[in-house]
Amino acid sequence: MSDTNRKLPILWIVLGAAASVFIVLVLWGKITWFSDQAPIEFLPNMDHQFKAIPQSGSKFFSDGRTQRDPLEGTVARGSTVYPLGMGDVDKAESFNVNPRLEKTEFLMSRGQNRFNVFCSPCHGYDAKSNSKVVERGPWPGIPDLTREQSAALSNARLFHIVSAGQNLMPSYADKISPTDRWAIVYYMRTLQGVEGTDSYAPAVAASNSSTTGSAQ
Ligand code: HEC
Repeated sequence: MSDTNRKLPILWIVLGAAASVFIVLVLWGKITWFSDQAPIEFLPNMDHQFKAIPQSGSKFFSDGRTQRDPLEGTVARGSTVYPLGMGDVDKAESFNVNPRLEKTEFLMSRGQNRFNVFCSPCHGYDAKSNSKVVERGPWPGIPDLTREQSAALSNARLFHIVSAGQNLMPSYADKISPTDRWAIVYYMRTLQGVEGTDSYAPAVAASNSSTTGSAQ
């Protein structure tokens, strides 16, 4: 009787130790009980649909891209057309008139939000362009938007670049509304730490410098 009483705790200790080792091995990933085989599929056509999954490759299109450009001449509902081409930089100076939206807290945080969503992948959250895309490369020539050269670009030109794209940078006219694009321009100015001018036209720049003090 006394013998079995003494053996019982030892048995529990051994079992407890075995269980702990087992749990450690499972957590460590040394013991797995799941299978690499595909599970039985009752409705395979739901698991494997003929559709494009965003950000993934596609064997259907010859260029392998899932994300397609809009068909030429088509405009998505609710989106606007930016009539200037990438190279129309001179026209852009007079065409893109700063609507002088009131720089409310909402508008500025909207600009920040849109910038973080659409621009930060390449230009970084601080616009200095030390993003993962630049780091991992190879994608040459993503400029630091806070550099002097970029800060010197007019508001009209910045709006133009976002709307029409510039060389390897794509156009965002079909993805970001004009109001949001202006909000991005205003927000970019805060990252650059400059007031910015509306356009390169000397007359506009001159009249601008007297009024922009209150605008920011
Ligand atoms: C896919 C990467 C990518 C994204 C996303 C991107 N850009 Fe660019 N951006 C570039 C590249 C590349 C250039 C340089 C183009 C060139 O060769 O002139 C550039 C240039 C610019 C310039 C011109 C700077 C200068 O000094 O000439 C501005 C301004 C700019 N981007 C703003 C933006 C804004 C605002 C967004 C978001 C709406 C954005 N970019 C999104 C890649 C990107």
